Amino acid sequence: PVGAPDKALAKKVTKVGIIGAGLMASQFALLFVRRLQVPVLITDLDQARVDKGLAYIHDEIAKLEAKGRLDGDAANKLRGLIRGTTDKAEYADCDFVIEAVFEEVGVKQAVFGEIEQIIAEDAILATNTSSLSVEEIGAKLKNPERLVGFHFFNPVAVMPLIEIVKTPHTADAALSTAFVVAKGLGKNAVLTADAPGFVVNRLLAKVMGEAARAVYEGTPVADVEKAFAPLGLPMGPFQLIDLVGWKVAAHVQDTMVRAFPDRFYANENFHALAELDGVVEKDKGGRVTGFTKAAEKVLKGHVGS
Ligand code: 3HC
Repeated sequence: PVGAPDKALAKKVTKVGIIGAGLMASQFALLFVRRLQVPVLITDLDQARVDKGLAYIHDEIAKLEAKGRLDGDAANKLRGLIRGTTDKAEYADCDFVIEAVFEEVGVKQAVFGEIEQIIAEDAILATNTSSLSVEEIGAKLKNPERLVGFHFFNPVAVMPLIEIVKTPHTADAALSTAFVVAKGLGKNAVLTADAPGFVVNRLLAKVMGEAARAVYEGTPVADVEKAFAPLGLPMGPFQLIDLVGWKVAAHVQDTMVRAFPDRFYANENFHALAELDGVVEKDKGGRVTGFTKAAEKVLKGHVGS
């Protein structure tokens, strides 16, 4: 058990480094720059990926401007604060570096190993992992006490929550900084144990797994979607899987099955679906109405264990 962290210990964040320029990273890059108004760097494996992330951010800034949420000066200020690079040396003066790269422990360890050589001794490291062990991600760090889990939800601009994950090594300064940063981003933060799926994905993996199971059992997709409505969720389980991405959902399921084999269903069907384009069919309002024929075939061919 842990008490509320002492805000006085928080490190002032003057420049944010983001590693990864994919869907989640680009979304929270915009949030950092918009809410903290500090320089934000994004990077990825190559310039094409960096450019794709930057294009998304510039597009969203233009949308906010068109909606009247940002005036021209404010939008230009954001454009000036966000920068993409493939040169990690530029991260040297970042005091808060968060990664959202491929969900594999080895990849994340390698990324942090490289960045730790570059950043200052007291810079904070954060991982947006959705379900991997934060302690394991930090296992190769010289300074594992500076690492904290900082898990966003999709769509980042709208979802009000961040899960902050403390490992047995996380220093109070890192934890406190994470809470102050989350507040600066306008999010509610909850402190979770470093347990598989933390809290939210543990619940979502159940919801998604049970929804898929109901389809294997013969309930049509659209009916499963409707049947979930009384739970008060803002969208049905398949629409949610579509939002977070089938690959991400499959990965979360894998992690949960590995951690709790007796409590979660194996998900080979999610993997097969993740390879298809346009898995779900939607009506004009974007609601899921069914699966494509190819996806139906995959579902029928894979009955979860
Ligand atoms: N990016 C930015 N803004 C977005 C957005 C996006 N992708 N999607 C929606 N929004 C904004 C809209 O612009 C709109 O803003 P405005 O009112 O200021 O114009 C606002 O959100 C509401 O959008 P809509 O009216 O179009 O749609 P809804 O009212 O139907 O809400 C929703 C859409 C917010 C996505 C809602 O359905 C929802 O909350 N769904 C559940 C999402 C969820 O559970 N996410 C968690 C996924 S798990 C996860 O991410 C963890 C990972 O580790 C797997």
